[in-house]
Order: sequence, then C-alpha cells, then structure tokens
Amino acid sequence: MTGKGERRLPRTIAIDGPSASGKSSVGYLVAERLGYLFLDTGATYRALTWLALQRGVHLEDEEGLVRLAAQVDMNLGPPAAGSSERCTIWVDGDDLTGVLRQPDVERGVSLVSRVSQVRRAMVAVQRRLASRRRVVMAGRDVGTVVLPNADLKIYLDASVEERARRRHEELAALGRPFTQNDVRQQILRRDAIDSGREDSPLKAAEDAIVVSTDGLNQEQVVEKIVALMEGKS
Ligand code: DC
Repeated sequence: MTGKGERRLPRTIAIDGPSASGKSSVGYLVAERLGYLFLDTGATYRALTWLALQRGVHLEDEEGLVRLAAQVDMNLGPPAAGSSERCTIWVDGDDLTGVLRQPDVERGVSLVSRVSQVRRAMVAVQRRLASRRRVVMAGRDVGTVVLPNADLKIYLDASVEERARRRHEELAALGRPFTQNDVRQQILRRDAIDSGREDSPLKAAEDAIVVSTDGLNQEQVVEKIVALMEGKS
C-alpha cells in the first residue's frame, strides 16, 4: 500500500535507442539509484551469437539459430564487482559475460538478431526476467515489443557524431585501435541494419518520451530520467 503523500514509481522502465546512445550505462545508473534490476536485452542476442559461433552454427543458417535459441536456458543478473558490463549473463549455467564484446560477436550479432523466430525466443526470455521484479530494461524494441505495457518508456537518441565519439572513447579505454571514423562507419552500418530490418525495427514507441542526449553528460541524462519517473507517479 502506498500511503498518502508517498510517490509510487513506475515498476517497469523501457529504454530503447540506437547503438552507443548510452542506454545501457544510463539505464544501469538509474536502476542502481532506485534499487531496480537492470536488464540489457542486447546481451541475450550477443550470447546467442557467441554460442552459435562456438558450436559451428553458421550465422546465415536461420533454422540452426532457431534450434539453438530454443535449447538454451538464459539468465541475467547484476554485474560482478569490477565488471565493465552492466549485467551478468548465464547460459545453461555458464557465465558468458566476458565474451559479449568479442569482435566476431560484434560483427555477427546483427545477423542473429534479425531472425524473427530467434527474436521470439529471446523476447520470451526477456519477459520472464522482467516479470520477477522492478526492472529497467534496455534494448531496441523493449517499449514496442518486449514490454508494450511498460510504465515508462524512454527513447534515448544522440547524433551519429556524438555516439561515435563516446564509443571511440570506450574502445580506446579498452585498448582497441579503431579510429573515430571506423567507429562512425560501424555505427552507421549497425543503425541501418537495426532500423531497416522487417521484424521489430528500432523505433520509438508511440508513447515513448524521446530524450536527446547530445550535449548532456551521463549524470544529466540519469537525472532527467529519474525526474520523469517521479513525474509519472
Ligand atoms: O545493444 P547492443 O549493442 O548490445 O545490441 C547488440 C545487437 O542486438 C544489435 O545489433 C541490436 C540487437 N538487439 C536487438 O535487435 N534487440 C534488442 N532488444 C537488443 C539488441
């Protein structure tokens, strides 16, 4: 029961946006601030891509991918202390968090995530995880497909230049030798695939609040979302 004068915060928050828009970092900070669980849906597609590569399933073999997606048991939880990821992901009990950013996963994940029946399996996993407690869930189709009844939907956006700058900084910190222009090209390619695919393309839900993050730092974006959550109650 909520007493008089107490605020009821939204229970499920969907944050969607293009790659490098900051949705995972910001979503994680919002969740941490308010004691919610942060779930990064991209991790489910990345883990499945890695497994397919490990098991010799060709990334163009849609039936093979669908069979694999149906077999695996996925779980997401809070990150381990000191991890640069915002979630831990276990597949059949194995912690696969460390493989999510491998270059072959990075290159292949768009192929895997465009397969409709793979998406259906991953969406079922994501919904099951979100049903357990208060969550902030980040992705491309959370507000439109995974949690269409989310209490608050945010669409985070930023210009390609800003996103390339941020991603380049992150990669440089990890010692990855890409130029900012390489990173920009990768982002443009990813945007085209994510927005152009037939099933669940990246787009803002009609009832999403669009937050442009150009010129804002992470903390300012977090404050903005927390204020929206409080204003919603
Ligand atoms: O957010 P990310 O970079 O970890 O996402 C990896 C890939 O997975 C990206 O190509 C888009 C796809 N994806 C998706 O199709 N739907 C989601 N809900 C999350 C990610």
